[in-house]
Amino acid sequence: MTGRVALVTGGARGIGAGIAARLAADGFSVVIADQTAPGELPSGCRFRRCDVSDEGDVGELLADIAGGDRRLDALVCNAGIMIRKPLAELTFAEWSRVIATNLTSTYLLARAAEELLRASGGAVVTIASTRARMSEPDTESYAASKGGLLALTHALAVSLGPAIRVNCISPGWIDVSGDALRAEDHEQHPAGRVGRVEDVASLASFLLGPESGFITGAEFIVDGGMTRKMIYAE
Ligand SMILES: NC(=O)c1ccc[n+]([C@@H]2O[C@H](COP(=O)([O-])OP(=O)(O)OC[C@H]3O[C@@H](n4cnc5c(N)ncnc54)[C@H](O)[C@@H]3O)[C@@H](O)[C@H]2O)c1
Repeated sequence: MTGRVALVTGGARGIGAGIAARLAADGFSVVIADQTAPGELPSGCRFRRCDVSDEGDVGELLADIAGGDRRLDALVCNAGIMIRKPLAELTFAEWSRVIATNLTSTYLLARAAEELLRASGGAVVTIASTRARMSEPDTESYAASKGGLLALTHALAVSLGPAIRVNCISPGWIDVSGDALRAEDHEQHPAGRVGRVEDVASLASFLLGPESGFITGAEFIVDGGMTRKMIYAE
């Protein structure tokens, strides 16, 4: 694995930080691209400031990797934001910011990374959400961005294959806050617990590695079974 390079967006904290640490442990040299700097950098990782919704920023990021590392083997499109507001209060600017950050960014990244990924026979993992397929109230922009990301994933898989595989992970509730969780938070999950960043990172590692060569255009739900559970009021 030595010499392989991975790019993880939104890797300064949360799920992205977990994926970056896992890929570094797998032997990748990891570039963490984020608009804010990480508190601490796992070994094997370096930080590059980037707003993934900005075409110029993404272009410069990939130009730096092409000029410096001269290769890219794995791209993880993880950076994302959520705005939860009643439809009547959600401004057009807020809607557009969520779509740009969560969806358009993956188009910008894939386009800018295509040549490097083709050369290495690389792979892409996008991070959507179970909210691509189900909703709570007041989450229109987030749900739409993640539904779009599912579709963009299979479109890219078909356009970029066979050289580049593209898959999607849809997490459910993954604890990134560090807040205390209640017993019922865990117990409502068929798997018996809330998710951890490692649950997503281990799957990303598999999808970016050599053992998943026949898997592309697919969505993997990592939610402890929550989207398989029927809920009726008692
Ligand atoms: N945590 C969950 O329960 C959960 C569930 C489903 C999906 N997800 C998805 O997983 C991904 C990571 O979520 P998280 O919970 O770790 O979030 P988080 O808020 O802890 O981390 C997100 C990271 O993305 C970065 N970021 C945001 N906008 C950016 C931009 N424009 N350019 C560059 N970096 C930017 C932030 O600075 C931050 O470091 C997101 O796409 C999110 O939608 C999370």
